[in-house]
This record gives sequence, structure tokens and C-alpha cells, in this order.
Amino acid sequence: MTTSNPVVFPDGFLWGGATAANQIEGAYDQGGKGLSIQDVMPNGIVAPRTEVPTPDNLKLEAIDFYHRYAEDIALFAEMGFSVFRFSIAWSRIFPNGDEEAPNEEGLAFYDRVLDELEKHGIEPLVTISHYETPLHLAETYDGWVSRDLIGFYERYVRVLFERYGHRVKRWLTFNEINSVLHAPLLSGGINTPKDRLAPSALFQAAHHELVASALATKIAHETDPDIQVGCMVIAMPIYPLTPAPADVLAVMNADHANLMFSDVHTRGAYPGYALRYFRENDIELDITDEDREILTNTVDFVSFSYYMSLCETADPTKSAGEGNIMGGVPNPHLPASEWGWQIDPVGLRVVLNQFWDRWGKPLFIVENGLGAKDRLVEVDGVKTVVDDYRISYLNDHLVQVAEAVADGVQVLGYTSWGPIDLVSASTAQMSKRYGFIYVDRDDDGSGTLTRYRKKSFDWYGEVIRSNGASLTR
Ligand code: BG6
Repeated sequence: MTTSNPVVFPDGFLWGGATAANQIEGAYDQGGKGLSIQDVMPNGIVAPRTEVPTPDNLKLEAIDFYHRYAEDIALFAEMGFSVFRFSIAWSRIFPNGDEEAPNEEGLAFYDRVLDELEKHGIEPLVTISHYETPLHLAETYDGWVSRDLIGFYERYVRVLFERYGHRVKRWLTFNEINSVLHAPLLSGGINTPKDRLAPSALFQAAHHELVASALATKIAHETDPDIQVGCMVIAMPIYPLTPAPADVLAVMNADHANLMFSDVHTRGAYPGYALRYFRENDIELDITDEDREILTNTVDFVSFSYYMSLCETADPTKSAGEGNIMGGVPNPHLPASEWGWQIDPVGLRVVLNQFWDRWGKPLFIVENGLGAKDRLVEVDGVKTVVDDYRISYLNDHLVQVAEAVADGVQVLGYTSWGPIDLVSASTAQMSKRYGFIYVDRDDDGSGTLTRYRKKSFDWYGEVIRSNGASLTR
């Protein structure tokens, strides 16, 4: 169904950007911070971890948000952000992850960030764990494979809610929780290499995260009934490569693997298709009665990242798409980014409708954007990037959000990924840039870290000021 209606967003729609501590903060060994898994992952998810932090790891300094947060937040305010999504680095609060008492210096840093946001009237949206498990938990406990992590996470969230609960009203428990099946170290702090990890251990880790997430929701609601907790998943609409029933079934199975997490988050129990999968694949999970009870604490809203759709097929001769950790095969109808991520604005409307129809929970798009190589040029004596490709990508995706809103989907807000250039999660490069703000830092670590407004900076500011009316169909 097509329409020529004007682009309309609801009043109070939240506009902003999203980041993660390990990709922006730097200062990896300052303020009493312990090491996180990211400090020993210089190549993103592509290559194995190192033993100790190595100088080629761009995340160690990242874009130095740790010292420049005030300047960066002022730039977000200049664009008119009403929300900023960021994560708290677990290893700043509990350097090893398993201490009894938190690190006051780490807590004080996020006080300062929240002060700055408050000063500009920007609402914080905080991710509790974004691909940055304390390294000690990975090495000593094998990350989320161990049930002990539930207790450590519980201690961590209690500290966060107590300290910040009066000023942070929206929290996300785990970034892209459904990625743990594909990237166990990055997502679940699981030190055992993926090829040596038994499926039972992997699903047990996923179960522990689901229980910890539901426990956080329970604690948040007990702390303050005004606090809203969301899950965060990778949203990826999957299309059949052909209309062959076997391909449609392949889509259903892939959907189940992705949606199981949010099914548990929103319904409070494992769906039948998951139990069948466990039964038929010798996956024996330790699920206690107490776990079942905790899982009934369902989320208030569902948040997700959206970058691409993909195709599935039952044909084993078709190969997986480039740069995509979730598998699938390329769609012959779609263009792709320089990193092979296929661009599909309509898929965003599809997924918003699918999620709303399935769970009936408010939705929040907390990541979306184009990673591209930018060129700093001088226009009228001012250094900038003429990033029309980024403007066009975001425009087309946002128009589809408005379409979903017109379809009746309740969408709380939109935070584009990387409003300021940051270090890529999958490749650990600086040159995969998403920002409205250019950061002078290159893949070899050189650069002054100076910030420059790109063309998209003014464009996004206008989108926000007009509440989407300036978007073009
Ligand atoms: C999401 C992650 O998967 O995608 C972010 O939550 C990440 O941490 C973003 O940065 C974009 O991916 P990449 O690999 O281009 O940085």
C-alpha cells in the first residue's frame, strides 16, 4: 500500500543519537576502570582477542568522550536532541565485575555526564551492558555461561538504579541480546572460542542473560514504578529468497532464532518452538523454578537496532551475506553499503509492524545509520563533510518510520547510531563513520580528535525542529 500523506510524527516523539561506552569513551585505564573484553579486541569481531591491550586497539582512546563529553553533548543539543542513548561501562563501576563495592570514581563520571544532559534538557537512555563485559568475568567465569554472572549483574544494576534511578527513567538491559548466539565473546563475554562452545553452554548463557534482564526489570520497578525497562535486540526482517515453501520455512526458523529473545522478554516464558528446538537438539538447560518466576517480569518496551534485512533459503549452495554476523543470503533487489550491509528502508516499516503485531509493546528504534567513508573538505572556508549519501539513507528510513506510525504502530523515538563518529564494533575501524559530527582520527590512530559539523548535522537539526515534517518522500 502506498500513500502520499505528509510525513507526520507523534507529538513528544524522542529524537537523538546512540553510542556505547567502549566505542567513544577511551580512557580505558583511567578513573579506576578495569579492563573490559573490548580492551583486548583490537579487530572487532573479525579476529581473536589478544592477551593484553595492544596499541593498535583504537578503542583504548576511542574519541576521548571521557574528557570531551561536555563539548559533544553541547553539539547534540545544538542539533536539538531530546534523547541521548549511551552505555555505562560495567568495568568503570565494578572494575573486575565481581567486587562487593563499586568504584566511586566511575559512578562520579556518569553523574557528570547526566548533569550535562540535564543542563541541555536531553533525556538519557542508558544501556546497562553494551558489548563490554569486564574482562575478569570473561576469563574467570567464561562470561554468561556461568550462573554467577546473574548475581554480579544484579549487584551492578542495584547500584545503577540507586544512584541514577531518580534521573534516568529509561533503561536497556543488554545491547542486541540476540547476537550472543552469533558472537559469544562480544555479546556474552564468553571466552571459550565459538567453535569449541557446546550449544548447551551457549543457550545456557543466553538463558542467564534473559533471567538477569528480567531481574533488572523487577528491581527497577521495585525501586521506582516510573522507571521503564526495555530489551534491545537486532531487528532484521528476513525475506524468502524464492516463494518455495522450503525457503519460507527457512525464514520461519531464522525468525524464531532471532525473535526467541524478545518473545521471552515480552511474554515471560519460552515459546513452544524454542522448547522443541532444545528437545530435538540435545540442549539441556538448567532452568529453575525461581528462573521461571523471574522471567515473568516482562519489559515495558522493546527497543532494537535496524541496519539491514536479509534473505533466507533452504538451498545450501547459496552463501552468506558479507559482513553480516546473523547469516542469511544477499537480496538481489537491494544495494549495499561499502561494508556490504544491504540497504532496505522499507524493511524498517516491515519490522516495526511485525514487532507491534507480535507483542503490542511500545517500540524504540535505538540504532540505525549508514557506516561510510567520509572526506573532510572545505566549503566557504569551513571544514565539513558533504555527506548527501548519509542524509538520503536516514531520510528514507525515517519516512518509513512515519509510515509505520501511520499504520498504527506506537513508536517512542529514534536514536541514530553514532551521531558522532566512533570506533566500529564489528571492524574496530574509525573509517566506518556514522556521525553527524566528524572526528579527526584515522584508522592508524593519528589525528587531533577535533570535531567538525558535517552537512547532515544541519539536516538532522532541521528534521528534529520540524518533528519530521522536513523529510522528503
Ligand atoms: C550494532 C552495535 O550492532 O551495530 C553497535 O550495537 C555497532 O555497537 C553498530 O557499532 C554498527 O556496527 P559497526 O560494526 O558498523 O560499528
